[in-house]
Amino acid sequence: MADLKLTDVAKSYGEVDVLANIDLDIKTGELIVFVGPSGCGKSTLLRMIAGLEKISGGTLEIDGAVMNDVPPAQRGIAMVFQSYALYPHMTVRDNMAFALKIAKMPKAEIDKSVENAARILQLTDYLDRLPKALSGGQRQRVAIGRSIVRDPKVYLFDEPLSNLDAALRVATRIEIAQLKEAMPNSTMIYVTHDQVEAMTLASRIVVLAGGGIAQVGSPLELYEKPENEFVAQFIGSPAMNLLSGEVTATGAQTTVKLDGGGVAISDVPTEAGDKGARVNVGVRPEDFVPTENNPLYTGRVNITEALGEVTLLYFEAQNGEEPVIAKIPGIASGLRKTSVSLAAPANKVHLFRDGKSLLYR
Ligand SMILES: Nc1ncnc2c1ncn2[C@@H]1O[C@H](COP(=O)(O)OP(=O)(O)O)[C@@H](O)[C@H]1O
Ligand SMILES: [Mg+2]
Repeated sequence: MADLKLTDVAKSYGEVDVLANIDLDIKTGELIVFVGPSGCGKSTLLRMIAGLEKISGGTLEIDGAVMNDVPPAQRGIAMVFQSYALYPHMTVRDNMAFALKIAKMPKAEIDKSVENAARILQLTDYLDRLPKALSGGQRQRVAIGRSIVRDPKVYLFDEPLSNLDAALRVATRIEIAQLKEAMPNSTMIYVTHDQVEAMTLASRIVVLAGGGIAQVGSPLELYEKPENEFVAQFIGSPAMNLLSGEVTATGAQTTVKLDGGGVAISDVPTEAGDKGARVNVGVRPEDFVPTENNPLYTGRVNITEALGEVTLLYFEAQNGEEPVIAKIPGIASGLRKTSVSLAAPANKVHLFRDGKSLLYR
């Protein structure tokens, strides 16, 4: 059991408020990912949970007990850091056993614990090696093994892959997913600024921005139903396009006349009173389809990037808005410097008013 509950948690350094109004309910066995831009308070929130940073306001509970003033060592939490300093003169086995020896655990129990961790981390064959005889990914696993042997209820990871190169990041990401599966009863919180890591690992993602929570949801909920423009543009790559316009017809479907001249039809319902409202229409690059008639958008393609299975079309900027980007299947480099019209299915057209999705009212 390791349920975590944060109620109205806040953090300030002197006059500076870093986080406020953080409410979170995390259940045993979840893998929660905190994601958000650099400096938004991800590490600070993680460190408050670990007990390495004082909580300025609100409460943190683990399994119903308030933890605000409980020392880190008594919280049943293990934190895995970005840099993984192993003892270079000790074998993998001794590195993993170190904390248990200090805690004077009987040798037979230490051996059992280390061997169990090694099995979960696929390090059994490497137990007698020194760190220098391991790859970067294996060393990172030993560092994780040092936490597993202590059998914590909650694991906290602060950007553990950010020092690894791209290929190793992917491989280690998959290992972390497998590690989670091997330990279904432990709760994990994983911090990253990389939305791909968040999308692939998380059971639920917490998007942090501007000192608070922008949205909590499963990866697909955030992708399909972002609550606000921030989440809409933070999740997904390239980011969702936003085009300004005015609501011209309301009801079960909504029609928006865009400032650029096109017309968008969205499955997001609106009320009679919304007629005339200024809104932003959101369309993901991958949801655009080239069309001949009734375009949502027409523009001149400035640059194309053929990635093999898809081509990215970067349009020339219009109306002072960010340039539109479309992602279309196949190789379409021939569209460069031509005029292209785009449509989008009504169930893929998002609507935002004052930055908030009209889906959530
Ligand atoms: N010890 C500190 N004193 C003052 N400000 C701090 C301290 N630690 C972090 N901050 C500030 O808190 C904010 C959040 O930092 P951090 O949690 O490290 O962000 P993230 O991990 O999301 O990049 C930043 O603006 C940072 O400058
Ligand atoms: Mg950080």
